[in-house]
Amino acid sequence: MSINQEIKPITAKRDGNLYIGGCDLTEIAKKYGTPLYVIDEQSLREICKEYKKTFEDYKNIHMTYASKALCSSAITKILFDEGFGFDVVSEGETYTVYKAGVDMSKVTFNGNNKSKSEIELALKCGVGRFSVDNFYEAKVLNDIAGKMGKEANILLRITPGIECHTHEYIKTGQIDSKFGFDLSQIDEIIDLIKSKYKNLSIKGLHSHIGSQIFELKSYCDEIDILVKELVSLNNRHCLSMNELNIGGGLGVKYTDNDNPPSVQEFGETIKNSVKSVCEKYNINPPIIYIEPGRSIISTAGVTLYTIGSTKQVPNGRKYITIDGGMADNPRPSMYNAIYSAEIANNTDNRNNEVVTIAGRYCESGDILIENIELPAPQSGDTLCVYCTGAYNYSMSSNYNRVQKPAMALVNNSQSDIIVNRESLEDLIRLDVIPDRLRR
Ligand code: LLP
Repeated sequence: MSINQEIKPITAKRDGNLYIGGCDLTEIAKKYGTPLYVIDEQSLREICKEYKKTFEDYKNIHMTYASKALCSSAITKILFDEGFGFDVVSEGETYTVYKAGVDMSKVTFNGNNKSKSEIELALKCGVGRFSVDNFYEAKVLNDIAGKMGKEANILLRITPGIECHTHEYIKTGQIDSKFGFDLSQIDEIIDLIKSKYKNLSIKGLHSHIGSQIFELKSYCDEIDILVKELVSLNNRHCLSMNELNIGGGLGVKYTDNDNPPSVQEFGETIKNSVKSVCEKYNINPPIIYIEPGRSIISTAGVTLYTIGSTKQVPNGRKYITIDGGMADNPRPSMYNAIYSAEIANNTDNRNNEVVTIAGRYCESGDILIENIELPAPQSGDTLCVYCTGAYNYSMSSNYNRVQKPAMALVNNSQSDIIVNRESLEDLIRLDVIPDRLRR
């Protein structure tokens, strides 16, 4: 079993209370307060090792972690230590990985509207690849690189026209997408680059077909299109592109109803598919980049909450309210995402009941989990929500002017804070009261 096929971190154990990384979650909740993101270092390192092992027999593989799933300095250090490069999409992500000491040649800069200052920073830091998304960006990148006396190594992001079965908002590879060049536009951009944009060096193609993908066949289709394009573009334009970035997307298990493929199945599919398509077109296997985000960090992460008020609607549902919700995990309200949870403190001798976990935010839609069976949750209990490592902290907000939670890293019975809880001072730090209002 791969870690992305588990709902809980691999170190999760129950001995009265619930433990992760050898740490009693009830104690940790008391020590650091709630809501609290907790990352299990062992689960994180193990899945990196799974990826590495799976791809070790493919010589030219670059594994780049999609920082957007969860970007923090400590997480970056662990992933770099495990041999990963990074996919970044902003100045903030670029700066974080740079300051964490990452070899910037292992970084790819993605995004469909990179700003000038983002491009400048990325060039200054020496990011390895820019995935160029559109005509405008190619021009801007060429101009800035020229002014800085640099050459930008680029991949051209294409929209391969692949429909995969995932939530509408996290699909990206279909034809009508805001990302990338339509296949019919590639000749034009290559002609432009060759004739005018002398500061760009085309290394290959990039695409990303979506996220939380369970159907590996979508990757075979993607690889088929990418290799075919690579070959025909090389021929038509006398290029020697030999890099393909196939994006991220491998799914994870949020509930018992989810059955994602393993990292091994994913890897074998990619390798076999590349091999057979390359044989078909009679080319040497290209350098492959993968950009997993969710499958790396999701299962390693849990969120701890304290249960506060409860409400029994007469003849209706029982609501259990936690001290967090849509601002620390917007996925249920954005994508109808479903999560699994347990009470972390000792619940022996309690009968199960079906409850709805409501968030604390002023919005009726702030429901974290609907109709979940738990041992009679009570005020003061610690709730542990599983598989929250990806796209929770990174998509969190300060809605209702609530401080963002802290994040703790657990391993071998040791816990360390890796992101501090925001303070009230942090919340007003950027506020300005103009003089004329001070009178
Ligand atoms: N590469 C590119 C170019 C991407 O756009 C993404 C994700 C990834 C890699 C990583 O994909 P992953 O392995 O994590 O599936 N906020 C949504 C997910 C949005 C994903 C956006 N792009 C969610 O919470 O489900």
